[in-house]
Amino acid sequence: MRKYIINSIFLLSIVAIIVSCQNQETIDLQNYMSNGKDIYKAKCQNCHGENGEGLGQLAPPLTDSVFLKTNKNRLACIIKNGANETFTIHGKEYKEKMPAFPELADIDVAQVMVFVTNSFGNKQGFVPYTQVSTQLQNCK
Ligand code: HEC
Repeated sequence: MRKYIINSIFLLSIVAIIVSCQNQETIDLQNYMSNGKDIYKAKCQNCHGENGEGLGQLAPPLTDSVFLKTNKNRLACIIKNGANETFTIHGKEYKEKMPAFPELADIDVAQVMVFVTNSFGNKQGFVPYTQVSTQLQNCK
């Protein structure tokens, strides 16, 4: 019995150490990923596909990490305000119009953006919603 208690205390302290080692950013990233996934399913998946594969000529894939990286300061604006220009994704031109999502709050835009840029083979890390808010105030 005594051995059992000592073992449990030992195990619990290991768990406590591991949990406290996860820094705040890791926790925020996990939160954004999970909320962002829900938003993606509800609002984006119809066009961009379950795995970001896109929809033929109608919607580009979200798997072009180079495009996403090059345009990383514009992604929030594209997501919130839609887009109507020619994008070259994986070397192919896309010209259809993406609708705006005025109902998305800044935090929603941040979460779905972080989800997209860290899924489908992308790994671009965490962006806090304060930074996304600033980008959204400066959309062209
Ligand atoms: C009705 C279909 C449709 C929906 C819904 C939609 N998109 Fe798009 N999306 C498009 C099209 C079409 C483009 C290309 C626009 C252009 O060429 O101007 C695009 C472009 C993009 C791009 C930049 C190009 C790329 O492939 O990386 C991103 C990022 C993006 N969409 C993310 C999202 C997110 C996030 C959502 C959900 C909030 C969403 N889209 C919802 C159709 C859609």
